[in-house]
Amino acid sequence: MESSDFLVIGSGLAGLSFALKAAAVGRVLVLTKDRLPESATEYAQGGIASVWSADDSFEEHSQDTMTAGASLCHQDIVDLVVREGPEHVRQLIALGTRFSTRGGKHADEYDLGQEGGHSRRRILHASDATGREIMRALIEAVRREPNIKVLEKHLAVDLLIDSKFDPAIKRPSCWGAYALDVTTGVVGRYQAKATLLATGGAGKVYLYTTNPDVASGDGIAMAWRAGVPVGNMEFIQFHPTCLYHPRAKSFLITEAMRGEGAILRRPDGEAFMKRYDARAELAPRDIVARAIDSEMKVHGFEHVYLDITQRDAEFVRQRFPVIYERCLEFGIDITRDQIPVVPAAHYCCGGVMTDADGATAIQRLYAAGEVTMTGLHGANRLASNSLLEGLVFGHRAAASAQLLVRGDRQRTPDLPDWNPGKAVNSDEMVVVTQNWDEIRRMMWNYVGIVRSNRRLARALKRITLLQEEIREYYWDFLVTGDLIELRNIALVAELIIRSAISRKESRGLHFNIDYPQRDDAKWLHDTVLPPGGERSAEPAHGDRSASSGV
Ligand code: FAD
Ligand code: SIN
Repeated sequence: MESSDFLVIGSGLAGLSFALKAAAVGRVLVLTKDRLPESATEYAQGGIASVWSADDSFEEHSQDTMTAGASLCHQDIVDLVVREGPEHVRQLIALGTRFSTRGGKHADEYDLGQEGGHSRRRILHASDATGREIMRALIEAVRREPNIKVLEKHLAVDLLIDSKFDPAIKRPSCWGAYALDVTTGVVGRYQAKATLLATGGAGKVYLYTTNPDVASGDGIAMAWRAGVPVGNMEFIQFHPTCLYHPRAKSFLITEAMRGEGAILRRPDGEAFMKRYDARAELAPRDIVARAIDSEMKVHGFEHVYLDITQRDAEFVRQRFPVIYERCLEFGIDITRDQIPVVPAAHYCCGGVMTDADGATAIQRLYAAGEVTMTGLHGANRLASNSLLEGLVFGHRAAASAQLLVRGDRQRTPDLPDWNPGKAVNSDEMVVVTQNWDEIRRMMWNYVGIVRSNRRLARALKRITLLQEEIREYYWDFLVTGDLIELRNIALVAELIIRSAISRKESRGLHFNIDYPQRDDAKWLHDTVLPPGGERSAEPAHGDRSASSGV
């Protein structure tokens, strides 16, 4: 057993921002399931949206966020994030983050990028490797901080909720988590006075995604099993432009390229976006992804093209150096060749519901970043608002958790160690790989960019069967990283399907051909899946032997 004041699960922008602030008042333990930098943050390209120039305003950034979110954003949260954003971006800069500047006579001014849905240039970026630069600065700061300890290759399995061990407790609290040391296979108990879920998104639920392998929705699944409501899971954002090449796994072509004039073309050369939206390539992402999907399905194209060849070659190489090099590895010179692209699952707008301080429905449990549903994104996230959300809520949650820990008089209860029960080593790993593949393919085909009642009903039937199989397997065999993730993607898939079935209209990222219209009279509200479902009532692992067969 290891104990600390704060337990942080996840080491992206949200987790590390929280850790750095919390370290001012207590000991922080960061658990992360891969290496420290491995996160969606590390791969962020376009940048971080923030009101920066004199001709921009908080009102305009708020309005753009609300418009992209198809009227489901919470105005108070939007205003809060937009207003607090610039201050936190300045702190990132003070920490050592180097954003790109305009160069020449304007070398002291930041170069502000443009992306879909933004009425102004307001995206601070580090060429096309913004996430890598932010993570570099955060990790250096974390390494300088004696109050922070990081355990890499430690995968949180489930949260330690006191009421799961003592049903007499009416207001549950979270006292940390069980986590698997991936290297040794041992599950340990990590207790803390305050716990932050910062596990990022769930792109791996889909066959094609821009997300890194760590994005398997673990935090959403853990929170829901613990009894925290989850909201707006039907709103999965598909990024319009992922590189299409048999050897290119999950490589994004940033929206900022369209901001610099890149044009989407069909294989016959037609620039088709104006037929779909007057804003053409700079329409919000849901519209652009659906337009590409429609062109591909109607005409049987395997992909469309993104064309930046009309811009000066030196500019393209300078502005998009990572994309230039990566495409060159596949024989595509983006200064001369069009780039083959397809949409791919990119961002989960829904998640663990929190208040404005990142607090969840369970005491001592906070959440920040992509794992959450704070109300910022509504039915569709505005480009580059995600890094901003993780940064602002990482800080807000830390401020709230600091107060809790400082004034804490409650003794940390000694909860049971993980009990593997009668579980044995599995000799049938094929069950795991088969189910992974089946879920991801089914979600791509049935619960993708365009949905229908029939496909959603089929998906629910399939996921219910698969979950039965996975549950048996989970309780009978010793856990591995793959098995834990499989259990989580299956649950997150179920939450997405159930949310999509419940919304009988089309709005933002949720498009159902059986209800093609938006219906404000009936559906101008969040989709909330309350806890208490069959799976959220799963037992605590301290008594795993008694629970086998559940
Ligand atoms: P992440 O950065 O994803 O970090 C999650 C962390 O949790 C990781 O360290 C992971 O290993 C860890 N973890 C997960 N599960 C567990 C577990 N069970 N136990 C222990 N650790 C766990 N947004 C923008 O605003 N601007 C952009 O330019 C932009 N570009 C993007 C480009 C790409 C290719 C991708 C994939 C996303 C992009 N996004 C962008 C979205 C944005 O990067 C993410 O939403 C954001 O970085 C999420 O930050 P986070 O801290 O919440 O999670
Ligand atoms: C991109 O660079 O296109 C991704 C930006 C984002 O996801 O906000």
